[in-house]
Amino acid sequence: MSTQADDLLAFAERDLISMRDVSRDEINAFLDMAERFESLTQPVLQGKVLGSLFFEPSTRTRLSFSAAMQRLGGSVVGFADAKVSSTAKGESLHDSIRVVENYCDIILIRHPREGAARLAAESTRLPVINAGDGTNQHPTQTLLDLYTIRKTRGRLDNLKIAFIGDLKYSRTVHSLIETLTHFDNELFLVSPQSLRMPPDFIDELDTRGTVYTEDEDFFSIASDVDVIYTTRIQEERFPDPVEYEKVKNAYRIDRAAIERIGAEVTLLHPLPRLNEISTDLDDYPGSAYFDQARNGLTVRKAVLSLLLGVKF
Ligand code: CP
Repeated sequence: MSTQADDLLAFAERDLISMRDVSRDEINAFLDMAERFESLTQPVLQGKVLGSLFFEPSTRTRLSFSAAMQRLGGSVVGFADAKVSSTAKGESLHDSIRVVENYCDIILIRHPREGAARLAAESTRLPVINAGDGTNQHPTQTLLDLYTIRKTRGRLDNLKIAFIGDLKYSRTVHSLIETLTHFDNELFLVSPQSLRMPPDFIDELDTRGTVYTEDEDFFSIASDVDVIYTTRIQEERFPDPVEYEKVKNAYRIDRAAIERIGAEVTLLHPLPRLNEISTDLDDYPGSAYFDQARNGLTVRKAVLSLLLGVKF
């Protein structure tokens, strides 16, 4: 049986591309350790440089990684917009990574294409972190989602968790749902018909024996639901704008809706939100979407430190 130290050691010099590559033991060990970063102030990443390559827009992921690196004494090079990089002149991703690896110790990449982070990892000897690749994966968002769920509900098993909104294109949902198959929970998958969870993910839930229901109606979720995870309808992923127009206002959760369910629920959203969570929920005691963003800093400090093999 592996120890917690073994589980954490296994992160060193590794890539973080997909939650499929991370075991339940590693997740639990990671979350235990991440708590220590809430109060850690030593510059354990002094002298380390993060290469931060964003080929798609971001506020939370990019800025929290930059803040995490700088607050632990490290520094950041990179770009927030591919138009100001040599990608605009036609440079391949492989070549960009081969060049950037000379300037940093670890690479963070967000890209609109599924599989781009894996390709980046195959192009370099440095650890690579996937900051979101198309509709595929967003592993550090999943770690901060799990961190927030555990902090608010005290556990990651025996929960009723509802996912509401765009289950087809949301990478944060895909990453988190796959990871939850390691745990024992009941899931409610609520979406418009055209935005149902893709068959691959449903197959995985079936294979792993995860209990779930699919429905279009928000009020189909259990009255004793523990967590509601809502997502934005991902306009930028729709091939046909007409299809987006049909579903863009599919759900708008407000205080009245939560009170009608009657549960003491934790409300999560990876953000940014449009109108799917009403601002009248911002002071609801269970609303934890801004806590998620704050926890992102703690979790990303831990991810950077572990992947860089830093002892603390
Ligand atoms: N949740 C999330 O990934 O937010 P950003 O797109 O702002 O990074």
